[in-house]
Amino acid sequence: MTMFNLAVIGCGYWGPNLIRNFNSLSDCEVTTVCDACNDRQSHMKKLYPHLKTVADAEEIFNDNTIDAVAIATPVKFHYELAMKSLHAGKHTFIEKPMASSVAECRELLVLAREQGLTLMVGHTFIYSPPVRKIKELVDSGDLGGIQYVSSRRLNLGLYQKDINVCWDLAPHDISIILYVLNDKPVSVNCQGKAHMSEGVEDVCNMTINFANGGFCTIQSSWLDPNKIREMTFVGEKRMLVYNDLEPIEKIKIYDKRVEKPPHYDTFAEFHYSYHYGDMYSPYLKQFEPLKEECQHFIDCIKSKSESKSSGTEGLKVVQILAAASESLKQKGAAVSIGDLG
Ligand SMILES: NC(=O)c1ccc[n+]([C@@H]2O[C@H](COP(=O)([O-])OP(=O)(O)OC[C@H]3O[C@@H](n4cnc5c(N)ncnc54)[C@H](O)[C@@H]3O)[C@@H](O)[C@H]2O)c1
Repeated sequence: MTMFNLAVIGCGYWGPNLIRNFNSLSDCEVTTVCDACNDRQSHMKKLYPHLKTVADAEEIFNDNTIDAVAIATPVKFHYELAMKSLHAGKHTFIEKPMASSVAECRELLVLAREQGLTLMVGHTFIYSPPVRKIKELVDSGDLGGIQYVSSRRLNLGLYQKDINVCWDLAPHDISIILYVLNDKPVSVNCQGKAHMSEGVEDVCNMTINFANGGFCTIQSSWLDPNKIREMTFVGEKRMLVYNDLEPIEKIKIYDKRVEKPPHYDTFAEFHYSYHYGDMYSPYLKQFEPLKEECQHFIDCIKSKSESKSSGTEGLKVVQILAAASESLKQKGAAVSIGDLG
């Protein structure tokens, strides 16, 4: 079996999860980790004594024994580090969002193609059991045509300095929506406000409009008393609520819909057009999405196949985020996304 040597750059909050999961794979070994902060390096060394720890990513790029690199730094460093990684001939995994601009994403895609390397983005949720189930239900027509999606990702903090709350939290919602729905997004409206740190919106409401006239709303907040991770998919036949904070029953399917009666004479008769049925929660196989995602990266390198969260998918998410930022500047006006991908 081919073993892949991998390095992780950035060992703050999220990087250690990548180290743990890549290390748990039978065909991958994390050999080196990099963090600009000495304390984080020492902490990683304590957890994994066999690891080489470095402060400068150049040491990773110059190391011919390393096949692949995973980048989990703040977003403003993604582009520069990923360009260097690809130039050095390493397969490259970048955490979400892929980069700070559409132009940066496009450059990374071109370089990865020229170099014949795998470029993948950490859209973790599309590897999760509930999101896979939602896609299965939507694709099979179980919910009927999707009328709209509403998503809420709210909590108090963690405040980021280099990106607003949309760029921090909405990549999850956007990547799920693009994965589950087969509709073409055409424009974005976004309103928001920076309450704590000038120029960095901490509360945003985004609407993604689709070519078929449908829409999705995404509410993102670092300034909410409750932690909420909830998406509602309203279909013509059934409605689905996905609550990621539920330990077991993360998905609930409601056999509810509104049917237009052929005619009605009284308000009482109008009520008959509401259909109230059962609610059920489908069985979901339990596995760690991040482990699935890490294995998928290694499998794509081996098979030279396109990842489910390829650089192109990363670009699409950034195109929507960039349109949202432009809409924020225009006080919520609709901003065209252009051709996606
Ligand atoms: N997929 C997910 O569910 C998920 C969840 C959380 C965070 N993330 C993503 O992971 C990335 C990191 O987020 P975080 O919350 O861990 O950030 P963080 O600030 O906690 O950690 C970043 C680490 O990178 C280090 N660093 C910064 N620049 C560096 C450089 N040039 N070279 C080496 N080290 C450097 C910092 O010292 C810090 O330890 C972000 O892109 C974020 O969006 C993804």
